[in-house]
Amino acid sequence: MFENSFSNDAAKDVWEKDRRHFLHPFTEFSSFRDQGALIIQQGSGCTITDANGQEYLDAIGGLWCTNIGLGNEEMVQAIADQARRLAYSSTFTDMSNQPAAILSKKLAELAPADLNRVHFATGGSTAVDSAYRMVQFYQSCQGRPQKIHMIARKQSYHGSTYASMSLGFKKFDRESHFAFITDTIHHLSAPDLYRAPDNMEEDQFCDFLVAEFEDKIEEIGANRIGGFFAEPVMGAGGVLVPPRNYLARMHEICRKHDILYVSDEVVTAFGRLGHWFASEEVFGIVPDIICSAKGLSSGYLPISAVIYSDRVHEVISRGDTGRAYPSGFTYSGHPVCCAAALKNIEIMEKTDLLRHARNVGKYFGDRLAELGNLPLVGDVRGMGLMRCVENVRDKQTKEMFPAELNIGKRISNAAEELGLLVRPVGHLNIMSPPLTISEAEIDLVVDRLGVAIRKVHEQLAADGLIN
Ligand SMILES: Cc1ncc(COP(=O)(O)O)c(C=O)c1O
Repeated sequence: MFENSFSNDAAKDVWEKDRRHFLHPFTEFSSFRDQGALIIQQGSGCTITDANGQEYLDAIGGLWCTNIGLGNEEMVQAIADQARRLAYSSTFTDMSNQPAAILSKKLAELAPADLNRVHFATGGSTAVDSAYRMVQFYQSCQGRPQKIHMIARKQSYHGSTYASMSLGFKKFDRESHFAFITDTIHHLSAPDLYRAPDNMEEDQFCDFLVAEFEDKIEEIGANRIGGFFAEPVMGAGGVLVPPRNYLARMHEICRKHDILYVSDEVVTAFGRLGHWFASEEVFGIVPDIICSAKGLSSGYLPISAVIYSDRVHEVISRGDTGRAYPSGFTYSGHPVCCAAALKNIEIMEKTDLLRHARNVGKYFGDRLAELGNLPLVGDVRGMGLMRCVENVRDKQTKEMFPAELNIGKRISNAAEELGLLVRPVGHLNIMSPPLTISEAEIDLVVDRLGVAIRKVHEQLAADGLIN
């Protein structure tokens, strides 16, 4: 928003406070100095309203998280009731609370196979960080303290703490002024089929990726590798759906070398791919550890759960008296957050939201594919309610626009003017709407995005930036 674009003084005042005092995550300094932030005032279902009263269809779903939609009264009531009953109580050293205990059991029921144990954290990053620590703890308890190396993939995003950011490897994040853990974290190629080397076919590309993993294990030594971290469908890295059988083959290799398989389902769990969890139900693998967050409470309150197997638990808890698990947070198992997660799951169950997500997810994919005919669109991909459009300068060669052209942002700005929010990530536009989205709303998303892409194309042509 610009300084002179406000319909009232109160809205401008809030915008100014934000602009002067709030350091936003991942926000470009120069454009923020000029334009500040879009201040959102309220939301209902898939629609959010800014401080000027302008409505937007939120195809980003907050940040992959508003699964049951905004403004759900039943949820609001459950949160208020729990806050009144017990707003906080610690879960450290022999204390617990009702919602945390009941939620643990519920998650054990929903999670695959023997993933019956839950360690709570506060968000996706702290869940991944906690899983990282759990891998080291487990390997050390097994008598293999040297298994501290971790394998992850390029283009992945696992969060913003020191360890989770080091596991991730997005180009933009790496080019920052931060330091990373580089001695014990290693990265394999991203399963990016659209940009597979030498235009490899799917199965050939899968063989290539699996061989790369085996080579990496050989190079480091299986006796030094503790864990493998992977999102089932890579989200912020560009909604990369892995090649057929890729995850199953990676999982098999992990098992062979007692490398714990950590499935980062921060985005994919709780319905985004139409199931409670994607690892087993979509990809047929049972990980050792699943990290979940976001959709667990549909973004109403911050909570995450590291769900892990009895097999891992047996190892970390056996042995000497006096051993504890020295990891966790003041807000681990927060009663109000756990009550929100329980209500969220209840709402999803009684509205049969997973089935709805499967249906509209498919519809979304079919409709979005139509945009593949547009001149700027190199690839349209995704699964369920995780979708992405990759914009290119040349569809034949897949040549990208220069980064400074900010193609994704140009398109998201044009969409915003049409009342649609899509997420710009470099040259991509990513979408992950609430699971409650209707087919009619999906039509609006696709139609508006199509208009936005055409407009930007015309503008680029008028400026002589493309033919
Ligand atoms: C796959 C994945 N893991 C972890 C995170 C980090 O979650 P949070 O921002 O809640 O810490 C994200 C956030 O988008 C994510 O997409």
